[in-house]
Amino acid sequence: MATCQKRRDFIGMALTGVTAVGGVCALGAMKKSWDPLPSVQSAGFVTVDVSTIEEGEARSFAWRGKPIFVLRKSADTPKNAKRDVVIGEKVFTLVIGLCTHLGCIPSYDAKQKSFICACHGGVFDASGINTFGPPPRPLDIPPFKIAGETLVLGEEGEEYKKLTAKKA
Ligand code: FES
Repeated sequence: MATCQKRRDFIGMALTGVTAVGGVCALGAMKKSWDPLPSVQSAGFVTVDVSTIEEGEARSFAWRGKPIFVLRKSADTPKNAKRDVVIGEKVFTLVIGLCTHLGCIPSYDAKQKSFICACHGGVFDASGINTFGPPPRPLDIPPFKIAGETLVLGEEGEEYKKLTAKKA
């Protein structure tokens, strides 16, 4: 009888142990599935290397699901101290590539030195200023920070604060 009782106690403890281990494993798996993916954790900031962008070239990137245009102005492209992003000798236009009319994605026309929105004919100059058509205001400049020859999109650096202060 005592042997039978001991066996039951042993089986009970073994089942409790297995249940506890299973519970810990399940909690671990649940936590893993709740934790944000590394790509989501770093989604707020995007580092963009602008060192290889040629004069007159506009390159697009993605930041927080939005298109971002970085245009390196050529020597004959008009400059705009209120909007230009200057890195050393290089001058860039940095804008969110969404038309301020109804949100279409414009494209850069190097010959016209303008961003053209095909939806309703809106035109922005090489600095992103609206110059024709229905867009009510310039293309937006995303928050950025200059770090060497890279731009950290999503971070408000000194240069971004200076540009936004000039607008006011
Ligand atoms: S959405 Fe660009 S002009 Fe209308």
